[in-house]
Amino acid sequence: MPPDHARRFCSDEELEQIGYDGHGAAGDLERWRCCGVPPATQELINVLRAEGVGSATLLDVGAGVGIVHLSLLEAGAAKAVDVDASRDYLAAARGEAERRGLADRVDYRYGDVVELAAELPAADIVTLDAVICCYPHHAALLRAAVRPGPRLVGLIYPHDAWWSRVRMHLSNLIWALRRRPDHWYIARRAQIDRVMGEAGYGAAHRGGTRSWKVVVYRRELASNRPRSG
Ligand SMILES: C[S@@+](CC[C@H](N)C(=O)[O-])C[C@H]1O[C@@H](n2cnc3c(N)ncnc32)[C@H](O)[C@@H]1O
Repeated sequence: MPPDHARRFCSDEELEQIGYDGHGAAGDLERWRCCGVPPATQELINVLRAEGVGSATLLDVGAGVGIVHLSLLEAGAAKAVDVDASRDYLAAARGEAERRGLADRVDYRYGDVVELAAELPAADIVTLDAVICCYPHHAALLRAAVRPGPRLVGLIYPHDAWWSRVRMHLSNLIWALRRRPDHWYIARRAQIDRVMGEAGYGAAHRGGTRSWKVVVYRRELASNRPRSG
């Protein structure tokens, strides 16, 4: 992490450091409309639907144009909160929700979910699709994600393989040389599993594509959890 990086992102200037200013929103919407849902995202949606989304409340962190929560609302979920660090992405997601007649079931919050976590309502299902890789504090992000007490947490993040890490380091180098704010933050699978395990979640599904891991964690019954000490 660059030394001048804020610990949390709670102002526009700090949020800009994450590198997502919504410049991709129009392109993402166009790709969704023309080419459908990306395969890893579709897998996440399918797994969550199979787990049951009827009447569920959703928290979609860094929802981008809203593919995950809008698809799950169409599949029977009751309502959603979309928290995003980009105003442009929030506007794109709201526009798409209006077009689909779903906007009155979505609550839009602008900011860093780590900063906003204490004021978010309870949620049955929390999703982070390609968000872990653009935020420097993975453990804080995951703890914010489980704070609403979900039964399911769906994550999509880049493969934790050497070739994937080399690719991300190279991209970071090129972006730094070009003085662009974009940055891949590399999260290791073991770290993610550890934080989720400490919060009481075990992996119920592991899958993905060549580039992306799709993992759905389920809250474990207290009686099934290993005793500490
Ligand atoms: C790569 S985009 C992914 C968008 C969408 N989930 C998708 O897969 O198409 C990452 C998104 O996460 C948001 N984001 C990153 N860190 C965040 C944080 N800590 N709190 C809220 N949003 C965050 C960015 O603003 C951006 O919209």
